[in-house]
Amino acid sequence: KPLYVLNGPNLNLLGTREPEVYGHETLDDLRQRCERKAASLGLSVVFRQSNVEGELVNWIQEARTDASGVIVNAGAFTHTSIAMLDALLACPVPTVEVHLSNIFTREPFRHRSYISKAAKGVICGFGGLGYELAIEALANTIAPGKA
Ligand code: DQA
Repeated sequence: KPLYVLNGPNLNLLGTREPEVYGHETLDDLRQRCERKAASLGLSVVFRQSNVEGELVNWIQEARTDASGVIVNAGAFTHTSIAMLDALLACPVPTVEVHLSNIFTREPFRHRSYISKAAKGVICGFGGLGYELAIEALANTIAPGKA
């Protein structure tokens, strides 16, 4: 089963959105990075983005049966969404939370993540590389020793 890579609000604007914070890579660049990294480990990814909280909740529910792991950058929903937390808590497959920026060096309201409680681990501050690291971490979790 594929890894689900789920991206939240405003990440469709990557490349032009506050490049000093989020870098110059576009969401499509990130998708290609994830596909390449996953393929190198014998895995595949389903890469999605939505600005709509309920759509992200639906995809997490879908992952319960259709994914072998979840990578989630929930964008600003990270700091607000009990609904995404609950969906992840109901999802038996391992989850890695990713943020492009180091949320702990930014505004205090970004220091708390509602979804970390449901994550096996959190990677932040490494830009697009963080997605690749998350794929490697999940590959190791799913089939230890392979990545
Ligand atoms: C983000 C950090 C969040 O605080 C912010 O709302 C985002 C992106 C990141 O990838 O650094 O939209 O999740």
